[in-house]
Amino acid sequence: MTTPKLSSSQIRSDFLEFFRGKGHTIVPSAPLVPGNDPTLLFTNSGMVQFKDVFLGAEKRSYVRAADVQRCLRAGGKHNDLDSVGYTARHHTFFEMLGNWSFGDYFKKDAIAWAWELLTEVWKLPKERLLVTVYHTDDEAYELWNKMVGIPAERIVRIGDNKGAPYASDNFWQMADTGPCGPCTEIFYDHGEHIAGGPPGSPDEDGDRFIEIWNLVFMQFDRQPDGMLVPLPAPCVDTGMGMERLAAILQHVHTNYEIDLFQALIAKASELTGTADLENKSLRVIADHIRACSFLIVDGVLPSNEGRGYVLRRIIRRALRHGWMLGVRQPFFHKMVPTLVALMGEAYPELPAAQDLVERALKAEEERFAETLDSGMRIFDDVAARAKEVIPGADAFRLYDTYGFPVDLTADIARERGLSVDMQGFDAAMEQQRETARAAGKFSAGSGLPAELVAKLKPTEFLGYEALDAGGLVVVALLKEGRPVDSLGAGDEAVVILDRTPFYAESGGQVGDTGVLAEQGVKFEVDDTLKYAGQFHGHVGRVAVGSLKVGDHVLGSVDAPRRAATILNHSATHLLHAALRELLGTHVQQKGSLVAPDRLRFDFSHFQPVNAAELAEIERRVNAEIRANHAAEVHNMGMQEALDFGAMALFGEKYGEHVRVLKMGSYSTELCGGTHVGRTGDIGLFKIVSEGGVSSGVRRIEAVTGQGALDLVSAEEQRLQEAAALLGGSAGEVVDKVRQLTERQKKLERELEGLKAKAASGATADLAGSAVEIEGVRVLAARLEGFDAKALREAMDRLKQQLGDAVIVLAGTAQGKASLVAGVNGSATGRVKAGELLAHIASLTGGKGGGRPDLAQGGGEDGPALASALADVPAWVAQRIRP
Ligand code: ALA
Repeated sequence: MTTPKLSSSQIRSDFLEFFRGKGHTIVPSAPLVPGNDPTLLFTNSGMVQFKDVFLGAEKRSYVRAADVQRCLRAGGKHNDLDSVGYTARHHTFFEMLGNWSFGDYFKKDAIAWAWELLTEVWKLPKERLLVTVYHTDDEAYELWNKMVGIPAERIVRIGDNKGAPYASDNFWQMADTGPCGPCTEIFYDHGEHIAGGPPGSPDEDGDRFIEIWNLVFMQFDRQPDGMLVPLPAPCVDTGMGMERLAAILQHVHTNYEIDLFQALIAKASELTGTADLENKSLRVIADHIRACSFLIVDGVLPSNEGRGYVLRRIIRRALRHGWMLGVRQPFFHKMVPTLVALMGEAYPELPAAQDLVERALKAEEERFAETLDSGMRIFDDVAARAKEVIPGADAFRLYDTYGFPVDLTADIARERGLSVDMQGFDAAMEQQRETARAAGKFSAGSGLPAELVAKLKPTEFLGYEALDAGGLVVVALLKEGRPVDSLGAGDEAVVILDRTPFYAESGGQVGDTGVLAEQGVKFEVDDTLKYAGQFHGHVGRVAVGSLKVGDHVLGSVDAPRRAATILNHSATHLLHAALRELLGTHVQQKGSLVAPDRLRFDFSHFQPVNAAELAEIERRVNAEIRANHAAEVHNMGMQEALDFGAMALFGEKYGEHVRVLKMGSYSTELCGGTHVGRTGDIGLFKIVSEGGVSSGVRRIEAVTGQGALDLVSAEEQRLQEAAALLGGSAGEVVDKVRQLTERQKKLERELEGLKAKAASGATADLAGSAVEIEGVRVLAARLEGFDAKALREAMDRLKQQLGDAVIVLAGTAQGKASLVAGVNGSATGRVKAGELLAHIASLTGGKGGGRPDLAQGGGEDGPALASALADVPAWVAQRIRP
């Protein structure tokens, strides 16, 4: 039996087809940025998009699923960044093949199918496979041993080998909290010629026995305090590393030898002029281009915190490896076309964002190029001085001034047998708190109690058609986050209904406000929020009466507020389309706020949008408003929607069924929000401001409808007021202001001239008061109101007038004196201006100095100054009389 030789794309499709045949629904890969999950930095495994399904907080129409998920393990609980390039099998970005059961099949089928796929479809030799099980999982052990027939010597029990209960290679968890459970792992033996021992042995870290597939039996939800709470139903979560499997099925040993990586390494070798294809730096570059490109595809841009900082770290690590290969020009972004050719078919979102990916990488390359070279020199100095440890302060300087992420410094240090004083670095960083917020803010989020989620049906939203609805049933009440049966007057609470016309905040659109009422009861709704992704929670207070679960209420949304909001929401879609049309398709939505009084739209773009572009954008949007397109809403499956050409947004979590909003042929986007009937309803669109939010992200704020008219009226009003002040009509304002500024400039010039004339008159008089000592004319004078510049000018004139002279001038204002001393002609060499000035300054409580012919300084104005100036002739006489 020979193992077939398969390409990466064949492996992906074999896997999906196998599980489709076992009744699994094939789902697309989710983005690397988890939708609405604050506990996790990145999608680190296939199960992330199903987390809420495991927890019972979300229901899907299927109980078996399979996919190929793009994953990232760089930062957070699972972090392989430092190992990349140094082992045969670690990556930042990788593809995970996975199959899932949500309360359906369990250990027996999961194990049987994994074995069938590996040994019957892909024909891996059974004798090369071995498995591990969690030490107490006798059930899995027996299944492998009895059902599959693996001999006992190739089944390894692994205990809690990571220092705490349930901390084991065979107990898998997504993050510090969330779904987890015991697992069984399948290993492949690459053969005796490679160093390394079987799992559980002291040299298990070698490259001989490679884990290829992990079958997790999800049974618990780990709480922040470490408690393991059983899941509503046991589930299966499996993950197989596509690249590791490809290595086996392409009959090579390391992942870097598979088809995908060979092509990337060849491109990197061409771009860096490196002939040796085994060079580790080429591997690092090949790995990192995948991680960086897909992060940008999924909406992350380089920045100094959170996800953006992790991206920056990976890019800069790749650039440093390019630098080691002698590259001094931007090269990394030139890898992108090759990546698109390799992976664009499996991930259509990659070619769609190619332009953005290339621009963002190039911008980051250009930014880091400014400091990489000098940073490396500083590093060399520091490393030469350091014995074993690079001091934290130096690592911080490299970070702060030269843009070296500390992991990069540690990486370079490691190559030279050094380490970094991380504590010292952290201490230095502590002072710059705001930049250190990186992963810290990703802590457990809050939601609806699980028992409610399991019990309730998702809220039916009536508000696309109606703003008022009766007979709504109160299905749950929450007070201080806990379910209660009833509420009394004055209680602050959250009301959940079976159906509601209230829109719950999502997709940037604010939640509705309004009133829930029944006979003798009034609940004022201040906001509506979505709980567990599917329940509309009406947040507010009981103003009158009391409310209990089971009551029927009439819900009335604040209609004018909602009406104003929808204009802004539809206009946001037109703005997005106009930006992509006029600035380029690298423009991607980075955030939005749709409120009744304004809209705010953040998007990727690498320079300010100038006034002419803004005017054109405004003109385009208004043209589409006047075209009065019907705003059509279509409900369809996600894939159908993408085929329909709808644009999906990043970091948003979409269900299997989506709404598509289409306005003419200009804008087609996925959107669950509420919208106008026709674009003409928007009336008018006016941009209020444009500015930068963070590197590569711009923000436009705008108003629509009555808000836009109010803005225009307010500006008109201001124009009228200005016209009245200028004594003309609105049409004359620009001319009048121009005349006024010209006149002003002319007057300023005249004033300057008069001042200069007055000053030279004053100094002409002064010249007459000089005294003569041994052929040198000595002058010391106080000039009220002269600043340092006027003093120097006066000094120049007096030197010309007096010839051989020693001059001291004190310009006074507000109790202070600026001092200048000058020596000219034959007096030079006999008296030093610096000494003279220092003498006067010291007498007047100030200081100063300068060259032998000109010195400046300052002191206090007052009697001491007067007597110091009066003494100047005597001071000079002392120095020049023989
Ligand atoms: N979630 C499991 C893993 O990532 C399958 O290994």
